[in-house]
Amino acid sequence: MPVDLDTGALVQRSKRAAPLWRRVWDGFLDWKLAKTADPAFQAWAARTPLVRRLVRHHALFYRDMAVPVALLRGNTRPERADYWAYVAGGDVPEAEAAQYSRLMATSQAMVAAEVLGSGSLPNHGTVMDVGGGTGAFLTAALRATPGLKGILFDLPTVVEGAPKHLENAGLSERIQIAPGSFRTDALPKGADLISLIRVLYDHDDGVVRQILAAVFEALPSGGKVILSEPMSGGRHPSRSGDAYFGVYTLAMTTGRPRSPERHHALLEEAGFQRARLLPACQPHITRTITAVKPNILKAI
Ligand SMILES: C[S@@+](CC[C@H](N)C(=O)[O-])C[C@H]1O[C@@H](n2cnc3c(N)ncnc32)[C@H](O)[C@@H]1O
Repeated sequence: MPVDLDTGALVQRSKRAAPLWRRVWDGFLDWKLAKTADPAFQAWAARTPLVRRLVRHHALFYRDMAVPVALLRGNTRPERADYWAYVAGGDVPEAEAAQYSRLMATSQAMVAAEVLGSGSLPNHGTVMDVGGGTGAFLTAALRATPGLKGILFDLPTVVEGAPKHLENAGLSERIQIAPGSFRTDALPKGADLISLIRVLYDHDDGVVRQILAAVFEALPSGGKVILSEPMSGGRHPSRSGDAYFGVYTLAMTTGRPRSPERHHALLEEAGFQRARLLPACQPHITRTITAVKPNILKAI
């Protein structure tokens, strides 16, 4: 049964549950953060414990956010803009792709717990994870559901790191790796369900339309799409969905968090039906929407 906890309660709970070594380490990181960030940033981070934890975790990303006022004023050139070249269709150097995929895989456990907890995956069939990195989500999904098979689709330089992980997880036989770009290649067929986990918010509406059209094309009639990512609060902006991820995409200089209503509209435009926002335990981490490709035979 989903529990509706707010961000502060979750942070307090995890702080109380943290072992001593973790609290000492967190204290050290706070001290480091306090030494390197400017006063305005410290004041903001102090009032927002979740942001502080994410900044620590995503040290790689948030150098750009060390002086947020300069970022908001457009006075700096965000370092991430170069790092994210691949979002705009550029090449990813292998070492950077590996570093980024590790970072994503680390935070994937929380996201996978939400998606799997929502009961949106079937017990049998094939799930294709598009933009699935090195397979962290598929690993969690297939471990939880022995009847499932997987297809992992991501850029060639990114999936190069996948075989080692899948072999360690004992899943090489159940997961097929499909290198490609959703900007230029058709998606492979054969999946009953396609997941897009933390993929769409990296991109503008034009690319999102392209991705959803490719997903629609690859699915059979009655096939399902699951998208899960942080979402905007829409008419009621939220601290994590709008403020935090708004700054995150600003630093990337691409993409944006979208409201569930906006996702529904884009899904319907692509031809999907029955778009449904699922209840979330940790909506500040991710929210999940499912939709279905209409069953043409039933409609006739
Ligand atoms: C924000 S990461 C999310 C990774 C993973 N789904 C997760 O939640 O941990 C976005 C993913 O989209 C992939 N991606 C970006 N552009 C792509 C493209 N043109 N074709 C295929 N995958 C792409 C990236 O390589 C990366 O693995």
